[in-house]
Amino acid sequence: MVKYEEHFGINIISTQTNTYTDVDFLTEDIVNGVEKFHTSIEGYKKTPLVKLDNLSSKLGVKNIFVKDESYRYGLNAFKGLGGLYAIFRIVCDKLNLDHTSTTFEDLQKQDIKEKLKDMVFVTATNGNHGKGVAWAANKLGCSSIVFMPKGSVVARAKAIENMGNSTVTITDLNYDDAVRKASSLADEKGWYLVQDTAWDGYEDIPNFISQGYTIMAKEALDELEKLGIEKPTHLFLQAGVGSMAGSVLGYMVNRFNKNPPITTIVEPATVACIYKSAKSDDSKPHAVTGDLQTIMAGLNCGEPNTATWPILRDYASFYAACPDYVTAKGMRILASPIADDTKVISGESGAVGLGLLSMLMEQDEFEDIRRDMGLNKDSVVLIFSTEGNTDPKGYDEIIYDGRNYSPFV
Ligand SMILES: Cc1ncc(COP(=O)(O)O)c(C=O)c1O
Repeated sequence: MVKYEEHFGINIISTQTNTYTDVDFLTEDIVNGVEKFHTSIEGYKKTPLVKLDNLSSKLGVKNIFVKDESYRYGLNAFKGLGGLYAIFRIVCDKLNLDHTSTTFEDLQKQDIKEKLKDMVFVTATNGNHGKGVAWAANKLGCSSIVFMPKGSVVARAKAIENMGNSTVTITDLNYDDAVRKASSLADEKGWYLVQDTAWDGYEDIPNFISQGYTIMAKEALDELEKLGIEKPTHLFLQAGVGSMAGSVLGYMVNRFNKNPPITTIVEPATVACIYKSAKSDDSKPHAVTGDLQTIMAGLNCGEPNTATWPILRDYASFYAACPDYVTAKGMRILASPIADDTKVISGESGAVGLGLLSMLMEQDEFEDIRRDMGLNKDSVVLIFSTEGNTDPKGYDEIIYDGRNYSPFV
């Protein structure tokens, strides 16, 4: 392991393992099946892959592509991709339907809805996942119960309730304890737990969720291929529990024959559980506990997903722990495009990868990391802006009111 010197509050390590886990729940065949499901949903549309030419020139790389997930299903975040697919699989299982031939439309027929109407889905969420679950449950005429951690923004709770048929509670627990609460209530009441993280003994449903997420990676790679780019050279993937990063990277591991792009996992400095796990020398996932604070609410999770952790351990090369200003910087850059670059509305949990890339390319102090990452004028960087302004007031405070998260003053 290499630990680089801290600059501007950013800590980065690089590791190399000699284990190369098989990612058998994210194979191309499985992802093709998930794609067939999603593309059959009413309202499905590919999200834009934005090419930021002027920003690339300014930062000194060949290309920067940003997949703008604020357009996903009108939900302002990517998360519905996972919740919807998992609920589909749970329902197929309950009704003994073949998921490879059943469509989501089939499940919306009146006789099936009648069989489903008493199903209750429960989850814990920082916002986006709960919105996706409530949206999917409501589409099938089912209800949802959603628990949010202490300090959650009321606008995000309301956005979940607005999906319909959903009861939302902001608890006084942190995210990981809210997950435990949802899980024990599911056992007690016979509700269906749809949680976007795995632990020993609870893997099938989070793996369905991870499978659902792969669609954004497939869309991006298929579009890059059409532009003559077979594979991006660099990926920056933000992580909470690491399901999203694991699903994108895991899919690329299979698509590129265990030779994915050079990948950096990016987390809030205060809740960097993947960074902490990569830093430890026992190959195991490690939790960060306590009352954890960051503006990156979607990434405010202290316990790694045990099913996707081996993917991040074996196939990512760099792990970065970033203070909040890094994402605020990324949000501002995406909100103020240079010349004819396209504007991207990116929320707190969507922009930290771009914020980090800008710091790495602009600051002399990061010269050694740039060199070791191979970031240069030939680099083709792919980033997923996983949410829009899901907390509109917080977003405006950062972008328009200049709320200051800068380390430079
Ligand atoms: C917008 C956004 N981006 C990224 C993530 C991170 O996903 P994961 O917890 O799977 O690492 C989340 C999780 O809620 C999120 O809401």
